[in-house]
Amino acid sequence: MQLRQSRPRRSVLYVPASSEKALAKIGSLACDAVIIDLEDAVAPEQKEEARERLRSILAEKSRPRCETIIRINALSSEWGTEDLLAARACKPDAILLPKIDGPGDIHDADDALDETDAPASLRLWAMIETPRAVLNIGAIAELGRDMASRLDCFVAGTNDLVKDTGVAATPDRRYLMSWLMQIVLAARAGGLDVLDGVSNDFRDLEAFRKECREAASMGFDGKTLIHPAQIDIANAVFAPTAEARAEALAILEAFARPENAGKGVIALDGRMVERLHLAQAEKLLAKAREIEETGS
Ligand code: COA
Ligand code: MG
Repeated sequence: MQLRQSRPRRSVLYVPASSEKALAKIGSLACDAVIIDLEDAVAPEQKEEARERLRSILAEKSRPRCETIIRINALSSEWGTEDLLAARACKPDAILLPKIDGPGDIHDADDALDETDAPASLRLWAMIETPRAVLNIGAIAELGRDMASRLDCFVAGTNDLVKDTGVAATPDRRYLMSWLMQIVLAARAGGLDVLDGVSNDFRDLEAFRKECREAASMGFDGKTLIHPAQIDIANAVFAPTAEARAEALAILEAFARPENAGKGVIALDGRMVERLHLAQAEKLLAKAREIEETGS
């Protein structure tokens, strides 16, 4: 059984579980997914109240329609276990684990969920934001190929990576770039989705657009967001362009012509096109269809 569902994750908005106003807004937003945060967006003295608010917002009648993820505190922290139990009871699509260091952290969360008889459809996402996680990224991503593991998606945690390594946070992200590419490569090796980190400057939407374009070129499926103003840009940038869709259709049509039946490679408008391009075109059109179904 294929449990890893393919769905658009262009715009994935963090919403602090401590903010009633922000939580109330979720239903009106066009993001592909929300991450309701119990971790760094919530101050220690607000943790319990935030957990209560989470329970009420995810009560059956007020559930968001978009994919819903809950970020818990690390299982090794004083809040982790209670967060996990509260999150599990809320039946989100996935639980996001912060500050993991290696595959053992995913196994621990898998085991804890198994102990509660959580269904296999409850998935795990992992923040990649510690130096150790970047060094262990290949082994973590391998879990994506293990059907017993719930792991579905990597989220780059660029603010923590900057904090823990001491690199400068420059606008072009030059000192983070090689780690981000490692994260994308590992995600693909494990068949996982992968989301870029946040842009802190939510008023500078042109800089944000540039960062989204770059992230899309780097192979990310989407971007994590901190503010509703960032949603439309991420949705537009991470969707296949009309030009890319037209090109993909042309490849499909070309391979469907009787004279090209059984051919491995053909010429199209003066360019070599192989069957691998056909597979790529089919994937792009499938993604475009999924996005169309979301209506945004
Ligand atoms: N999710 C949902 N709604 C949000 C939101 C979010 N992440 N961020 C802002 N909003 C809402 C505000 O509540 C406000 O609602 P209103 O129109 O009903 O008043 C509206 O959008 C405009 O917000 P604005 O005044 O521009 O920003 P702010 O000063 O209220 O909030 C932040 C700024 C950064 C504090 C806020 O965007 C935020 O908390 N973002 C998420 C932070 C986070 O989760 N970090 C951890 C992961 S990196
Ligand atoms: Mg973090």
